[in-house]
Amino acid sequence: MATNARAAICRGNSEPFAIEDVELAELRPDELRVKIIACGVCHTDMAVRDQQLPVPMPVVLGHEGAGIVEEVGSDVTSAKVGDRVVMSFNSCGHCPSCDIDAPTYCYNFFPENWSGGRPDGSATLLQKGEKMNANFFGQSSFATHAIAHDRNVVKVPDSAKDLPLERLAPIGCGLMTGAGAVLNSMKVRKGLPIAVVGVGTVGMAAIMAAKIAGADPIIAVDMNDSRLELAKELGATHAFNAKDDAMGQIKELVPQGLGYAFDTTGINKVIEDLFGLLAPMGIVGMVGASDPSHMLKFNEAEFMGGGRRVMGILGGDSDLKHFLPKLIEYHLNGQFPFDKLIGYFPFEEINEAIESSENGTVVKPVLRIAEEA
Ligand SMILES: NC(=O)c1ccc[n+]([C@@H]2O[C@H](COP(=O)([O-])OP(=O)(O)OC[C@H]3O[C@@H](n4cnc5c(N)ncnc54)[C@H](O)[C@@H]3O)[C@@H](O)[C@H]2O)c1
Ligand SMILES: [Zn+2]
Ligand SMILES: [Zn+2]
Repeated sequence: MATNARAAICRGNSEPFAIEDVELAELRPDELRVKIIACGVCHTDMAVRDQQLPVPMPVVLGHEGAGIVEEVGSDVTSAKVGDRVVMSFNSCGHCPSCDIDAPTYCYNFFPENWSGGRPDGSATLLQKGEKMNANFFGQSSFATHAIAHDRNVVKVPDSAKDLPLERLAPIGCGLMTGAGAVLNSMKVRKGLPIAVVGVGTVGMAAIMAAKIAGADPIIAVDMNDSRLELAKELGATHAFNAKDDAMGQIKELVPQGLGYAFDTTGINKVIEDLFGLLAPMGIVGMVGASDPSHMLKFNEAEFMGGGRRVMGILGGDSDLKHFLPKLIEYHLNGQFPFDKLIGYFPFEEINEAIESSENGTVVKPVLRIAEEA
């Protein structure tokens, strides 16, 4: 039987998100229905709204959902009815990347996450009986209820039973990406210098992870001074404003070069400048969304001669089922205090929440969709 729900519908950037009645489709054997308690707002939602990503419209977005499982299909093993879960991106489970537990590079990422329905084209969500585009990142959590999948749901460990779901909601995207880039992708070594350019959610998570890894110094760069202050609270040893020749200041601070440079801005000039600051064997990790027409240029001899690397990173190379519980443990023992980034909004204020992210007043807006108790 279909389940009635309310969902925020995105029809592009010329009109605000509108919360309307929808119906969830019946579950397939590998699917779960989750009552959403909270959902983070991320830049990727806005990139879709602005049609920078090929997701069909109108659509229900939201991909940092946390909630309580209400119903499970017969093949589901990741959670049972009543479990508290967080959701992340979906993957197919049977491609060369999924085979080696690298699901962020799933060969079927687009159909599983961005096609507006299930990979076979069927709808997970309907409005007045017609297909509504959804299944965004295998969830579409700007809604009271969502259909998720066995592969993109992680049960909150019992050790975190006292942590509210509204705090855990954003862990499955930007936070995981920044922390994973440092700990999984670049495998930052103790004692080596790192610079993080752009300290929004992803950059702040990278700073906290760099501290966990023991990097030194940890340099934050942004144009927003209050974000730079917060970055220092979270572990940055130095903070430079991009308007004040940050690259020159980094060069002066670490004349031997950077072990790691992490870019979240997606600006090609920034990435090229960072490449020029690398020590031998240094790595530039890049995650920022960029203009699809942009190209990067760097010196061939420096690239080869120093064994330098330029690394594209998706989702922080996170194998969800292991990495999300690990991040929750870091949070519980005080090493990953991401709650300092969060500002809460009621679901009805979704447009205000998006605005707060775009004007930089809130690093990570989280929508409160239902009471947990
Ligand atoms: N690759 C992935 O898996 C992945 C996952 C999540 C997000 N993203 C992308 O990563 C990027 C960062 O996400 P976020 O949520 O942290 O965004 P954000 O907007 O919160 O953070 C970006 C920060 O960069 C700063 N900035 C902009 N231009 C700058 C410049 N020239 N120099 C220094 N700082 C500058 C901004 O002030 C801001 O604080 C986005 O493009 C997002 O779409 C990628
Ligand atoms: Zn995201
Ligand atoms: Zn796959």
